[in-house]
Amino acid sequence: MTVISSADLELRRTVEALDKRYLWHPYTEMGSWIDKSQPLVIKSAAGSRLHDFDGRSFIDGNASWWTSLLGHNHPRLVEALVRQAGVLSHCSLAGMTHEPAARLAAELVAVAPGDLMHVFFSDDGSTAIEVAVKLAVQYWRQMGSPDRYRFVALDGAFHGETLAPTALGGVAEFRRPFERIVMDVIHVPAGSSGIARAFSQLHEVLSQNADSIAAVVIEPMLQGCAGMRLHSAGYLSELRKVTREFGVLLVADEVFTGYGRTGPFWACEHADVVPDILCTAKGFSGGMLPMAATLAKDFVFQAFVGEKSRAFYYGHTFCGNPLGAAVAREVLNVYRDENILEQAKPKAARIAAAFEALSSRPYVSNARSLGMMGALDLVGDGGYFGESGWRVYEEALRRGAYIRPLGNVMYITPALNIPDADLEELLDIIDKSLLAAFEK
Ligand SMILES: Cc1ncc(COP(=O)(O)O)c(C=O)c1O
Repeated sequence: MTVISSADLELRRTVEALDKRYLWHPYTEMGSWIDKSQPLVIKSAAGSRLHDFDGRSFIDGNASWWTSLLGHNHPRLVEALVRQAGVLSHCSLAGMTHEPAARLAAELVAVAPGDLMHVFFSDDGSTAIEVAVKLAVQYWRQMGSPDRYRFVALDGAFHGETLAPTALGGVAEFRRPFERIVMDVIHVPAGSSGIARAFSQLHEVLSQNADSIAAVVIEPMLQGCAGMRLHSAGYLSELRKVTREFGVLLVADEVFTGYGRTGPFWACEHADVVPDILCTAKGFSGGMLPMAATLAKDFVFQAFVGEKSRAFYYGHTFCGNPLGAAVAREVLNVYRDENILEQAKPKAARIAAAFEALSSRPYVSNARSLGMMGALDLVGDGGYFGESGWRVYEEALRRGAYIRPLGNVMYITPALNIPDADLEELLDIIDKSLLAAFEK
């Protein structure tokens, strides 16, 4: 039995009381949170595990909202952060520059698909998308096509929290409250909903509206918040083909899919597609600090060069923050030195086999996997508000794994370097939790 020190017990109670009194949690109905008898209070994390004040440890099945791709507190990232903090913690990129941002930009371009070669830093996935949206609109304005200011996105899309990403978003529950204040976006069926229908609607929308469309924005291969929906590499190449045909920009949101989540470093590589603009965040800074980047091709960049009025008047206070940049540089070094993508291959194969085996369960209507992601659609209605996934979540928590669902979709997106033993334990917990939730 775990013995909890009285200091830990006291601290947990204090945190819980302060939390319930003052903190407003994301994606949470706060009444039920406040009523919860003993919420999870995390004390520390290391590798693929979260530790609470009661001496319990939980395998982090979603790498803390898909960010800790190298596990928590990777020693090399911690060291890079501490080292940089002693030198330069922050200075803006307004009228000056610094080594971490300049080197990171070069290193990111070196691993980026094709000829993406200009890097604009921001804070998180949402701001990376805001940058892409504003770049696209201003690009067309400066190219003499100011009427191209609308966007095309996929049904079920998720691109973040601020207003432009909300407008692009296709998850009804997140979009509905803001419907009246978001910009005009045309949503087309995603490739997951039948490839022929998706192709023909995309074609139709672009052929009828090309003169008013600035860009098509997509989550390549894998739509995360939609419920881990997959589309084929063929759909992605077709998207590239038609956007080129109609002269529309293609923006790839690799915030979730980048850094090897789906197998290759970028999901766009599945189809050898090079978008005109690419957004990265989350794993980009190893889940340690808010940090994001939007990469653009040279033809986009050149539209902003020349007169003062053509500049991109945009920039968050912390863009290119030296701490984030130093950590993001070290993330790339770790991927290279620890051969992260190669090491993840057998783990991905193990996830694929385990989820395939679960597909025959009577309460599973669909099972799928791609790279380091495995997902199950569980029986039940309600979309994002569905309860089935939460039944499994509670069972898994009791057994030592954190697998927050998306409604009735139960999924895992663990760290790419999750130790094999932890992965086996996670898969075993899922198996047992499903049995307990549906067969007991
Ligand atoms: C594909 C995608 N884009 C953008 C975002 C927004 O990222 P952030 O929460 O860092 O703003 C997310 C977040 O989950 C995402 O999955």
